[in-house]
Amino acid sequence: MTDATETPQIKTTPHTRTASYLAEPSEVGRVLLLYSGGLDTSVMLKWIQDEYEAEVVALTINLGQPGEDYGVVRGKAEQLGAVAAEVVDAREEFATGYVVPSIKANGIYGLAYPLFTALGRPLIAKLAVEYARKHNCDTIAHGCTGKGNDQVRIEATIATLAPELKVIAPVRGWQMGREEEIEYARANGIPIKGGAEQTPYSIDDNLWGRSSEGRWIEELDHAPDDDVFQLVTRPELAPDEPQILEIGFERGVPVSLDGERLGIVELLERTAEIGARHGVGIVDHIEDRIVGLKVRDIYEVPAAAILLPAHAELERLVGTIHQNQFKGELDRKWAYLVYAGLWWEPLRTDLDAYMASVNEQVTGTIGMKLYKGVARVVTRSSPNAVYDAQLATFETSGGLFSQQASPGFIELWSLQSRMAHRLRTQREE
Ligand code: ARG
Repeated sequence: MTDATETPQIKTTPHTRTASYLAEPSEVGRVLLLYSGGLDTSVMLKWIQDEYEAEVVALTINLGQPGEDYGVVRGKAEQLGAVAAEVVDAREEFATGYVVPSIKANGIYGLAYPLFTALGRPLIAKLAVEYARKHNCDTIAHGCTGKGNDQVRIEATIATLAPELKVIAPVRGWQMGREEEIEYARANGIPIKGGAEQTPYSIDDNLWGRSSEGRWIEELDHAPDDDVFQLVTRPELAPDEPQILEIGFERGVPVSLDGERLGIVELLERTAEIGARHGVGIVDHIEDRIVGLKVRDIYEVPAAAILLPAHAELERLVGTIHQNQFKGELDRKWAYLVYAGLWWEPLRTDLDAYMASVNEQVTGTIGMKLYKGVARVVTRSSPNAVYDAQLATFETSGGLFSQQASPGFIELWSLQSRMAHRLRTQREE
């Protein structure tokens, strides 16, 4: 090894431990590193071996990040000295156990963010626990900074599921800037993807969406540069022909596209592809993070932008006015818990039981019209619709719905409001 010693040394002293699950250097013998293959975690793979004299097991998780070559990532981990390098395809578990419950809960945070990262982190951390145990590791390392939500989601999961495991988050403490990291990478033969000249966007993605942060995105008055959109076609370049996509749902779960039955992973990936082609799912969003910061994110969420509104529409069609008013409040609570890293909180599972109960009726088909960045509901049908065209029509009267009964209803319905209004106006006179 060359001049790795010139890079900043670990600065944490034994007295600065702020949580019981954080590892003291002396406790670290074998580390399970959540390894993405990017610069931070590659530097980390080497740095942990040097700083802690520990062995490193690399774990890379496939949640459907488009265009990733996992063979290359595994090779890189081995080349950097990992004693084992595992790649896990967790797309099915992610789709079934995390994205589907979120669809049932119309999972959106801050009116715009479909939670793809927030849903991925508890699964990633759960798998880290499983593989740490399998490889007899004492510590889990991850690449989160101290400023984001992801550290909360990952560490809360580990501390909940595996109190015996310790955590290190080197980026929070190593005080290397990007320049120093690149220097460290060069000194240690770590390849730097995409060159070192330009600071890249900070990207996170999976089959439910993609986020970009950093660079000009931090300037709130800077409209998006085109190069940030790597998933969704810019609406102005989208096809001139609209497309209608029919999504079939069974008990709240999307099961078919245009009548073709698909497994959930394929359905999500295909929907994303179709939405991306039509420029659907671009979100430019200011977000209230758990750790206090307000941050701007650019999201590309083509599958969510189609499936969430379709699900919500079908749910409203089969629910009563009372169910529909109530569920929105629970949906918001569900999304907040998940956003805030409390996936394992019992209230989330309690809420899931309610979501499942409501979604028992959510069977039917919704047609979404996709055109230049917009996804709009255009058709609905369901055997469970609480809807009767005969009753709703303006064209005939009579039958079960008596228009003669309406004035009596109005008189009683407005009774308290009318009394209160009268009292107030009398007092003002
Ligand atoms: N703001 C989103 C969230 O908190 C996306 C975070 C993306 N994560 C990342 N490491 N770049 O869920």
